[in-house]
Amino acid sequence: MMHSVLDQLPQIMGHRGACGHAPENTLSSIEMAATLGSKFIEIDVCVTKDNIAVIHHDTDVDRCTNGHGPVLLKTLEEIKLLDASIQFSPHFTGEKIPTLKEAILTIQKLGLGLNLELKPCKGWQIPTTERVAAELQEYLPENVPLLVSSFNIEALKKLGSLMPDVPLGYLTEAIPPDWERRLVEAGCASLHCEKDFVTKENVTAVKAAGYKFLVYTVNDPEMANRFLDWGVDSVITDFPDRLFAGLQHIKTG
Ligand code: G3P
Ligand code: MG
Repeated sequence: MMHSVLDQLPQIMGHRGACGHAPENTLSSIEMAATLGSKFIEIDVCVTKDNIAVIHHDTDVDRCTNGHGPVLLKTLEEIKLLDASIQFSPHFTGEKIPTLKEAILTIQKLGLGLNLELKPCKGWQIPTTERVAAELQEYLPENVPLLVSSFNIEALKKLGSLMPDVPLGYLTEAIPPDWERRLVEAGCASLHCEKDFVTKENVTAVKAAGYKFLVYTVNDPEMANRFLDWGVDSVITDFPDRLFAGLQHIKTG
């Protein structure tokens, strides 16, 4: 199936919002991405102990907040007590880990597209995906472009079974030799690869097979231009402003 969302992918996509400029995966980071010109953002999602989807990258809250321990062992009320600004204090003091619902409201208000990365704990792939799908079905307006991505094939397959019309992206670092089999197995329409492993040859092969190709995390404009020149559809960046300033291959239409 052809997904129109995939035809709207912008060349530059903010990573964890615009996490070079604001605390990652917060509402401020999403707003910053829009302010810097991003039309689409990538954010990470997992679930709390009381099964609420929240926007957070790590299994635990230690790196990004003033708290400790796994998200999965905290209620939303406990999560909301944490300060998620520590990477950028004091300017963002008081910033919270947002729920998926809150992030969707902000994304809708700003007119952004969403690349939502499923980040389940190992062992919690299915419950995480079921909850995220239920919340997307309840809260995501039809006019918000959505791409769901994950490193986890089990999560992708589950999401695909629950929301068959949503395009899926398979995340990897290096591109495995059997990449096409994996994309087919997981029902994916795009491959999202770590920048250090991208070659012109693998971009050409993946594109020739009819898939979209996204690269993360590209913060150097020269590198972004090289990838776009090779046919990469989107580069995911912490610093959308830097890449826009250095963009030589502006897609029109
Ligand atoms: O979705 C691209 C990128 O976010 C994947 O890696 O660890 O930054 O979530 P990570
Ligand atoms: Mg991510």
